[in-house]
This record gives sequence, structure tokens and C-alpha cells, in this order.
Amino acid sequence: MKIIVTGGAGFIGSHLVDNLLSQGHFVKVYDNLSGEGKDLLDHLRNHKNFQFIKADLKDLKTLTKETRNIDMVYHLAANSDISKGINNPEIDFQQTIKNTFNLLIAMRDNGIKKLFYTSGSGVYGDVGETYTKESFGPLIPVSMYGASKLSAEAMIYAFSNFFDIQVWIFRPANIIGPRVTHGVIFDFIRRLKKDPKKLEILGDGQQSKSYLYVLDVINGINLAVKKAKKKINIFNIASNSFINVNQIADVITEEMSISPKRSWTGGKIGWKGDVAKVRINNDEIIKLGWKPKYNSTEAVRKTVRVVLGKDKKF
Ligand SMILES: NC(=O)c1ccc[n+]([C@@H]2O[C@H](COP(=O)([O-])OP(=O)(O)OC[C@H]3O[C@@H](n4cnc5c(N)ncnc54)[C@H](O)[C@@H]3O)[C@@H](O)[C@H]2O)c1
Repeated sequence: MKIIVTGGAGFIGSHLVDNLLSQGHFVKVYDNLSGEGKDLLDHLRNHKNFQFIKADLKDLKTLTKETRNIDMVYHLAANSDISKGINNPEIDFQQTIKNTFNLLIAMRDNGIKKLFYTSGSGVYGDVGETYTKESFGPLIPVSMYGASKLSAEAMIYAFSNFFDIQVWIFRPANIIGPRVTHGVIFDFIRRLKKDPKKLEILGDGQQSKSYLYVLDVINGINLAVKKAKKKINIFNIASNSFINVNQIADVITEEMSISPKRSWTGGKIGWKGDVAKVRINNDEIIKLGWKPKYNSTEAVRKTVRVVLGKDKKF
């Protein structure tokens, strides 16, 4: 197949691109390199089935040109920093709502009939200990990130109906692993490398979520696209294990062999729009035969070791 991956130069996108190329597909990455992972695709520069287009999704003319003769779109480009939306709600509105609309217009104009989209568990909002199924509702997001993901999903469903597009939507838990570009592990390691003597933790550190190793997610994507045959296929993806922020700090400081003085900014959440407890029902993806290789704690440790260069193998 001829595939385009938006956001393919990012953390998850770069692993997805490696995997799609290994399956023999032609892969074009469409990315404006606004993320932290500017050089994550350097290793593919000379690959015969790989093409890189540095462009922004807001540029509809270029997007329409570059999606000509494409069989399937994997849409990952977004602002991945949820906290940015508090001071600047325009970011998610532009990056996720308007840009997804542009992409759908380009797909319509080029007759593309298959779309995979990374939404997020942010669409569920803050529902405490409830294990949200894909059919959970009402959906009341608490951040612009979640609101824009929900809006993007809604537009995708309408375009699916209007223009006969088959879609696969993923609502993942926290994803971590080699090449990670943001999030708590990335942030803690970066700060501790600068100053190993202290660590400020946002909130009370009890925020507890499921963490997935990125290659487990890539396996899930492949499985869903191959096996789920409905016109609209929605999947949560998370493991049934959880780790909190204080425990993540334990793993990192242990692997770095340091004992920084910890302080907490206080409160149950790290920033407005954060969710203290995320619990996601993963029955649907499990039914397809998906099984994560790593639980949350193992995924955290593996990621820390790879990021620190202690493990060379992904
Ligand atoms: N990482 C997670 O834990 C997680 C969890 C759930 C959902 N997701 C979603 O998965 C997707 C990928 O996340 P990631 O962690 O790899 O993020 P990332 O920030 O590493 O990658 C996003 C990529 O999109 C590109 N991009 C952003 N705006 C663009 C634009 N206007 N035009 C072209 N390219 C643009 C960036 O340059 C970057 O390479 C995002 O949609 C994110 O919301 C991520």
C-alpha cells in the first residue's frame, strides 16, 4: 500500500513508520518538525520506500497534493502537550480540529477510503475509578486536548458516513518508550540530568495511570487495522496495571543511582486539565488477540533504561 503518516517524525509516528516499512509498504511522512523529535527519522533517509515531506497540515494545497494516489492515512500529528491548552486554547483548536478537517477535505478530494487516527483517553474526561468502555458517555473532556480529540473524532465519523471512509480510532493510555518526546519520564530525566539534587513533582505524585510500551501499541494498531472490519472501529488501548508519579520517580532515581530531595506542588492533579486517575477498559482490543508484552511498571523501567542508554535493544 501507499501510506501517508502525519506526525510521522514524532515519537509514536517514527516507530509506526519503521513498522510499516518493514511490512513492505511505501511510506510518506508529512510533518512540520515542530515536535521535539526532529531527527527521529534520520535512520530512514536512504530507504527506497520512504519519503519525507516537511509541511504543515494547515497548508491545504500542499496537503492535497501530497495525499494524491495514497491508499491509507495514519493521522498522528497533534499538539501532544496537554498543559499548553490552558494558556493557549487556540493550539489544540488549530492543531487538532482545523488540521484534521483539512486532512479530511484532502482525503475526500483524493478519494482516500482508509484512515487510522490516534485520539486519546482524554475524550472521557475525569471519571475517577470508572473503567471507561468505548461506548462510555456522556463524554465530557476536561482539557482542550481532550475536547479537540473528541471534535476530531466526530468530524471523522461524519466524513466516514458522507464519503465512505473506513476508520480505525485509537484511544490510548500513556505511551512511553525509546524516542519519547514529552511526558513525565522525559521531563523527570531531563531535569534530573541538569540537577540531580532535587526533583519537583507536579501535584501530590499520586496521579495513577496505565503506561504502555510503544511497540505494544504499534502491535495493537497493526492488529486492529488487519482484523477489525467494521466501517468505524474504535479501540481503547491500555494495560490493566497502573503506576503513579511518585513510583515513576522511584524507578528513575534508582536507575540513575541518585537520591534527589523531592518536593510536591500539591493538589490531586499536576495542572488544570490533568486527570488524577485514568482507568480504561481494554476488553475490545484484547478480544482481537492483543496482549501487551510489558505491564505499566515494566514499561516505565524499560523506557528509563533505554532513554538513559543502559539498554541498547528496544
Ligand atoms: N504519547 C502518548 O502518550 C499519547 C497518548 C494518546 C494519544 N497520543 C496521540 O498520538 C499522536 C502522536 O503522539 P506522539 O507522542 O508521537 O507526539 P509527538 O509530539 O512526538 O509527535 C507529533 C508529531 O506531529 C508533528 N506535527 C504537529 N503539528 C503538526 C502540523 N500542524 N503539521 C504537520 N506536523 C505536525 C510534530 O512535528 C511531531 O513530529 C498524537 O496525536 C497524540 O495526541 C499520544
